[in-house]
Amino acid sequence: MPKANRDQEPASDASEVADRASTSRAAVKNLIETSEKAGGQKKLPAVYDGSFGRTLYDTSGSSDGSVTVVMPPDKILNVTSQALLRIESHPDGRRYVGTVSAGPFYDPDGISADSTAMVISAVNGAIGMPGHHGRLQLQLLGEERGGRIGPANRRPIPNSPVFLVDDAEMSSILGLEGDFAIGRVMGHETVDVPVPVHKKSVLYRHTGVLGTTGGGKSTTITNYAAGIAEEGAAVILLDTEGEYTTMHEVTADADMLALARAQGLPVKGVPNTHVLTLVGREPSNPDHPSHTEFTLEFSVLSPWTAIEILGMNDAQQGRFLAAYDIGRRLLGDINIFPVKKDVESERQALDWDEMESGYPHLTLALLIDVVSACIAHLKKGEVTFWASDLMRKRSDAQAKLKEIIDQTELEKVPSSWMKVSGLLWRMHRLKIFDRADAAHLDVPAMLKPGRVNIIDLSDLDSPVLRNLAIAQVLRQLQTEQERAYELASVKGQTPTPVNLIIEEAHEFLSTARIRQMPTLYEQVARIAKRGRKRWLGLTFVTQLPQNLPDEVLALINNWILHKIQDESVVGRLRRTIPAIDQSMWRSLASLQPGQAVVSLAHMRRPIMTQIHPSTAKLRLES
Ligand SMILES: Nc1ncnc2c1ncn2[C@@H]1O[C@H](COP(=O)(O)OP(=O)(O)OP(=O)(O)O)[C@@H](O)[C@H]1O
Ligand SMILES: [Mg+2]
Repeated sequence: MPKANRDQEPASDASEVADRASTSRAAVKNLIETSEKAGGQKKLPAVYDGSFGRTLYDTSGSSDGSVTVVMPPDKILNVTSQALLRIESHPDGRRYVGTVSAGPFYDPDGISADSTAMVISAVNGAIGMPGHHGRLQLQLLGEERGGRIGPANRRPIPNSPVFLVDDAEMSSILGLEGDFAIGRVMGHETVDVPVPVHKKSVLYRHTGVLGTTGGGKSTTITNYAAGIAEEGAAVILLDTEGEYTTMHEVTADADMLALARAQGLPVKGVPNTHVLTLVGREPSNPDHPSHTEFTLEFSVLSPWTAIEILGMNDAQQGRFLAAYDIGRRLLGDINIFPVKKDVESERQALDWDEMESGYPHLTLALLIDVVSACIAHLKKGEVTFWASDLMRKRSDAQAKLKEIIDQTELEKVPSSWMKVSGLLWRMHRLKIFDRADAAHLDVPAMLKPGRVNIIDLSDLDSPVLRNLAIAQVLRQLQTEQERAYELASVKGQTPTPVNLIIEEAHEFLSTARIRQMPTLYEQVARIAKRGRKRWLGLTFVTQLPQNLPDEVLALINNWILHKIQDESVVGRLRRTIPAIDQSMWRSLASLQPGQAVVSLAHMRRPIMTQIHPSTAKLRLES
């Protein structure tokens, strides 16, 4: 009541005042009683405490697995893209987890964002705008029951509270378990993205590291190789550019050093690296403290792989294989291999699989001399043995060879034989096979725990040479790991895990090359298949995933995807990697150097990852 009126009223007597007071007390009491009868003061259920947003009703545009969440304006900045969220569905009490797949967006209150009124106001420089709220799209990962995430067969109830999952809980929900961290979850500085080295079901089902130039692949590989070795596995790195031959040293890249220091990472090179260069080739880093030359062994190379690598036509192939057979008979007849009555060598000869390896003791030099003898026979001339010591020095071998050739029905046309001879001589002149002055690859030593073996292929500019070397390494690696696996199994143990990293995989395994060299590809596929059981993992690295055929992509179960812009590549990968959702595929094109989508077989979902900076020195670094 206005003050002026009260002043004009006549003074009340005491009984009137008391009367009025009891009336208003009665009214208040009455009001409280009525409200209590109606259920008392309305309070939010406790389940909403600490939530930042609510689920919304579905619309005709809703889709399975995706839920719309809205929030008040002061909460929008707390939510980042890809953040992990939990919904406490109310009142049914179910718990769901999911990640932000789109947004959060700013929506104006009470009016549509693209309405004419909003657009015209903005265009005309309006300062006052309606209030707003946040909206995001959440992709359900599943329903949480007893600490485990299972499939979600229902949807959360509308108007349920939504919470941010804190960093501490994130790792267990996403299955981020492993032995060393390759990086951190983007937007969550304290959550590591670890790689498990001792889980058979992950790295030994093979890995692809893809991305355009400068995306950060080599940095990732440096961390990856170092981490795997530190965990007691062995690493073999096929280094096409000799880039890794300096990684035992600390980088001079000031940005990388600053980044590493800021993240509290140790500043160091990669320990226990060993560089192997093919005999006679220029090493990328002659100053490496552990640097050895190795020779190739022709007898490791399957004759079929040799045929492919040398690109022989059918006529040449027939003659090559005929000479190969003569060489084998000769070795037996002069008791070099198999040695008579020697059980082990006789077993080896019987077990020989021409698709997998070359014939023991059959050198390239011997084969050249066999071909020369065949040519001399067809031309009815005299033979001179130029290539092998064996044929030069042992008259019994010469006589035996003549005898075998006399008994053999040789393909005529000496010119094809000459071609084969020319191809073999060309290979011989590379001086990489069976060199007495260089060591053979000591594969058992290479597979010691913690070793990083860098095969420096940088001075092998011809693909023939490079593929010869790679074929050889693959073959020897496979044989040795199979042996190690058998030995360990007998004792109920597991062998030292091995990871073979193939840099520039698109050169070695391109669609065109696989068509040209099916045997070499078969070898890779066989290693991939057999490696799963035997702890031998392959890692393919390439900036041209478009050149990798589907067969190779199909071997891969773990992915580290750096920036990829080519839409056709993304489209193809999308069909191969179903786990990655649309929003992640979209973000691939705009990733910064060092950022990657990491999808390892054991993870509950792929993770946008900031790969750790590396403090190791790479040779080609700017
Ligand atoms: N994890 C990272 N953290 C910070 N910066 C990085 C990271 N990875 C890469 N970079 C930056 O990007 C540059 C290129 O990285 P890197 O050489 O690893 O790429 P790449 O994909 O191997 O390139 P290329 O295809 O040319 O071999 C680095 O010199 C560095 O500046
Ligand atoms: Mg690189």
